[in-house]
Amino acid sequence: MVSKSMEQLVKGNSVIRALFEEGKEMAAKVGAENVYDFSLGNPSVPAPKAVRTSMKRILDEDNSLYVHGYMSNEGYEEVREAVAASLNKRFGTSFAMSGILMTVGAAGGLNVVLRTLLDPGDEVICFAPFFGEYRNYVSNYQGSLVVIPPDTDTFQLNLSMLDEHINERTKAIIINNPNNPTGVIYSGETLDKLEAVLKAAEARIGHSIYVISDEPYRELVYDGAVVPFMTKHIRNTIICYSFSKSLSLPGERIGYLAVPEEVDDYAGLVQGMAIANRVLGFVNAPSLQQLMIKDCLEEQTDVGAYDKNRKFLYTSLKDMGFECVKPEGAFYLFVKSPVEDEKIFVAEAKKHHLLLVPASSFGCPGYVRIAYCVSYDMIERSMPAFKALAETYFG
Ligand SMILES: Cc1ncc(COP(=O)(O)O)c(C=O)c1O
Repeated sequence: MVSKSMEQLVKGNSVIRALFEEGKEMAAKVGAENVYDFSLGNPSVPAPKAVRTSMKRILDEDNSLYVHGYMSNEGYEEVREAVAASLNKRFGTSFAMSGILMTVGAAGGLNVVLRTLLDPGDEVICFAPFFGEYRNYVSNYQGSLVVIPPDTDTFQLNLSMLDEHINERTKAIIINNPNNPTGVIYSGETLDKLEAVLKAAEARIGHSIYVISDEPYRELVYDGAVVPFMTKHIRNTIICYSFSKSLSLPGERIGYLAVPEEVDDYAGLVQGMAIANRVLGFVNAPSLQQLMIKDCLEEQTDVGAYDKNRKFLYTSLKDMGFECVKPEGAFYLFVKSPVEDEKIFVAEAKKHHLLLVPASSFGCPGYVRIAYCVSYDMIERSMPAFKALAETYFG
């Protein structure tokens, strides 16, 4: 018999995953070409060629015991050195190899950090709208997620409400920049203000509050936008990076945690994270993927393809009468539901075989998320369906 807590998780299973499955069933009935599935953040741009070239090279070399063997729980030293050097070159930082831990994607990294920081009953703050899995990850360690309501005027961090949500149990804040689901980039000015609130709060509660910077979309930005590098603004930062989106490798499960030496209790943190990686059962990030990443740190996905989708979808939906947040990064369009209960809107969209995600699952009811990391062709084909949907509401 499964545990009570698992029964709860089964009941509240991911809306996004459920939609994805529904899309497959719909496709079996009406044909895949007539279903417009905008539910999942699964990249449509193939991984750069260098990824395959590197994996082939690694496999062809006669060193299989090294390539497929166990290594330190933190990852291969040569890979961690390379990650630190690449960050330092790009962002003018001074990460040491000891502060880099290779992870099983951002999901693995977030779990490692939370396992390291949380005691039962501890609190983690996040700002709505947020990636819904944070709730599950925090509850994995009997912590509770405290959600700050969204600022629907700007979708920047709603800092005016932060201080009142911080208390002695607050251990960390999760920031996701660029943001899933809005595509908004939090500015350097916003992050400086966040740091000021945190400093005052730390003095009040008497212990550190870490900012976990979840950055799978760091490289996916448009119109020359710049994502501020967190450690330049927030001292107690733990960076959680993933190659799932930036190199289109979500199934390969590879990312890293980066901790700057100036954080409080650096030694305790990095030691704890290595042990967390082991005791959570990850043991280490996939070995072949780690070695490939070392070769591909300077590689980039074709952001231009997502940009083309972004411009077309944003302009078309605005022209039809929908209110949309203009995405500056990531690959999601956040759209205001024309009716208060966005679930009704999502159900209406389904009648046109459009699969959109209700933003209640991101802590922001009244909105929907459209993942535009799909083919341009599908977006073009979906236009009559969006037009028909728009006519239901705007005539
Ligand atoms: C904001 C955010 N964080 C974390 C993840 C998990 O990414 P990964 O595939 O690296 O585990 C995702 C995936 O969509 C995401 O959108």
